[in-house]
Amino acid sequence: MYSRIAGTGRYLPERVVTNFDLEKMVDTTDEWIRTRTGIERRHMAADGQTTADLCEMAARRAMDAAGVGPEDIDLVVIGTLTPDIVPGGMEYQLQEQLGIPTCPAFRLEAACSGFIYALSIVDKFVAGGQFRCALVVGAEILSRILDWEDRSTAVIFGDGAGAAILQPADEPGIISTHLRADGKYWELLYASFADSEKLRTRSYEGAFVRMKGNELFKVAVRCLESIVDETLEANGLDRTEIDWLVPHQANKRIIEATAKRLGMPMDKVILTLQEHGNTSAGSVPMALDVAVRDGRIQRGDLILLESFGGGVTWGSALIRF
Ligand code: ACO
Repeated sequence: MYSRIAGTGRYLPERVVTNFDLEKMVDTTDEWIRTRTGIERRHMAADGQTTADLCEMAARRAMDAAGVGPEDIDLVVIGTLTPDIVPGGMEYQLQEQLGIPTCPAFRLEAACSGFIYALSIVDKFVAGGQFRCALVVGAEILSRILDWEDRSTAVIFGDGAGAAILQPADEPGIISTHLRADGKYWELLYASFADSEKLRTRSYEGAFVRMKGNELFKVAVRCLESIVDETLEANGLDRTEIDWLVPHQANKRIIEATAKRLGMPMDKVILTLQEHGNTSAGSVPMALDVAVRDGRIQRGDLILLESFGGGVTWGSALIRF
C-alpha cells in the first residue's frame, strides 16, 4: 500500500505588507529585497489570529478538495515552529475547531522542513494501513518572532498555512521521502527567546529570529543539491523525468541553483515567494496548492518537493500526484 495526496488547501491572512510598506518600517528598499530574495509582498496575521486559525482555514479547503469531512479525519499532524502557546497544545485546539472526532494529533518542529518531515511520517502511517484519512499541515505566524530592528530578517518572512489530506492508495502516491538534519550549523538560524518568563506566560514577545543569512545561503544550496541527487538516485530517475519542482520559498537565487542542478527551466518551478515571502513550514504546501489549483500540476505528474531551514534541517518528497 501507498499513500496519496487526495486534496490540498492554503490560507493566507488578509493583511498584505509590500516591500514599499517595509521601507517605512525598517532601513531597506524594495529594490534590495526584490533583487536579493525575489520577495515583493507577504501576508501577516491580524492581532488575535492564531496559528491554529490559519491551519483551520487551510485544512477546510484541503478537506473540500479531497471530498472528506472532519468526521473522516483519523490523524492530525502539524509542522510549525510558531505554535500557539495554549493549554494542551494547538494541535488539539485545531482538532476541536475543525470538529474532528477522537484521534491522534501531534505537532513537530523542523523549521522550514516541518511540512516535509510531517508528510514523511504520515506517509508511513497511511501506507502502513494504520490511518485512512490524515490531515497534514504546515503553518507559521513568523511575524510575531521578527526583530523589527534587524533588517536582514524582518524583510524575508511571512505568515500562512498549507494543508494536505493523505489517503491510502494501491499505487504511489508518495514514492519516497528523504529527511536530514545537521546540528553543527544551528547557530546560522534560530529563534532566541530573550525572556523565557514571557514564554511561561504564553507570549512570544522577546523571541527573535537570528540568522547569518550569507553563510546559511551556501549551506542551503549545498544541502538541497545533495538531497535532489539522493532522491533521483534512490528512485533510479533521470532528472528530465521530473515534471515540477515545488521548492521551499526562501530565496529565488537558492531555488534557481536547485533548478539548475535538475536542469529544469524556471517555468517548471513553482514560485510563490514573490507573493508569500518565506513562510517556513507553510511554504511548500502553499506552493503545492497554488499550482494544483491554477491547473499547472495535474494528476499523474511527477513532482519533487524540497525544503531547507533552521537546525539545519532539509528534506525532499518525490510524489506521483
Ligand atoms: N535592506 C537593505 N540592505 C540590507 C538588508 C535589507 N533588508 N539586509 C541586509 N542588508 C545589507 C547588509 O547590511 C549588507 O551590507 P554591507 O555590504 O554594507 O555590509 C548587504 O546588504 C549584504 O548583506 P548579505 O547578508 O551579505 O546579503 P545576501 O546577499 O546574503 O542576502 C539573504 C541576504 C537574503 C538573507 C540571503 O543570505 C539568504 O537568503 N540566505 C538564506 C536564507 C535561508 O535559506 N534561510 C533558511 C530558511 S528560513 C527558516 O528555516 C525559517
